[in-house]
Amino acid sequence: MITIIGTGRVGTSAAFAALLRGLDEKIVLLDIVPGLAQGEALDLGHAAATLGADVEFVGSENFELMEGSEIVLVTAGKPRKPGMTREQLLADNAAIVADIAVKIKKYAPESVVIMTTNPLDAMVYVMYKKLGFPRERVIGFSGVLDSARLAYYAAKKLKVSYSSISPIVVGMHGEAMYPVPRLSTVGGVPLTQLLSKAEVEEVARETVQAGATITKLRGYSSSYAPGLGVVLMAEAVKRDAKKVFIASVYLDGEYGLRDVVAEVPVVLGRRGAEKVLELPLNEEEREGFLRSVEAVRELIRALPEEYRI
Ligand code: 2OP
Repeated sequence: MITIIGTGRVGTSAAFAALLRGLDEKIVLLDIVPGLAQGEALDLGHAAATLGADVEFVGSENFELMEGSEIVLVTAGKPRKPGMTREQLLADNAAIVADIAVKIKKYAPESVVIMTTNPLDAMVYVMYKKLGFPRERVIGFSGVLDSARLAYYAAKKLKVSYSSISPIVVGMHGEAMYPVPRLSTVGGVPLTQLLSKAEVEEVARETVQAGATITKLRGYSSSYAPGLGVVLMAEAVKRDAKKVFIASVYLDGEYGLRDVVAEVPVVLGRRGAEKVLELPLNEEEREGFLRSVEAVRELIRALPEEYRI
């Protein structure tokens, strides 16, 4: 059983992706807006019937229904509006995440929690502190999205398939994210060898701006890619796949960092982010990565104290 908390655009895209990929036979949708989760669950139930897949969708405002969930996807929170940065969502969403943490701790204490709420890394920090779960069971999603976007823009330039690119974007999910073109490879060849400096810079810029570009164009933030991405991570956990994703996790000595959350490659399996991989960054890249993580620290410092302990 999987629970999705928050039935906005990301939560419902995740639910739909979960149906198409056969993630689980029971998916609980929770939202505080009266009727919303029930309505979405009904529509998704009809989609299941259309597909001929016996997946049960339950929608409710009653958080007790998450009891017994193996995985909880947290997509709740205020989304970005045009012109807004992810960071501006800090205080409002910290309160929402802290409240959800109390409920997860009560009803799904053994679950692996995967989040999309922005500003992502700071929200993972709040969730980690408030849940008190082992750090491998509190994971943020967005490195998957940022690296997929790098693959998208690089693939367009190189005229190769998206899947032929192994993209690396680390640090913060935000304006300060850090793409690493030298370690982003195509058949083992670094992007820095295949593209000119100006092209590499353009790919990196497009990647960093991708979320804001979508928000500006359509008036609300991304949802299909986050919805699918978070389901792929849930799949790796559920099937104990030991698959590598870039994800947001609490660091405990890796990269020489402690008491901060950052996007880094991790191995996902049944216990969550079972291993953190340390990239062989050169000196310049290491400085770039640390600057990006510092931006997460600044957000954490800006959190009201109750959300930092
Ligand atoms: C994105 O990058 C809004 O954080 C979300 O699209």
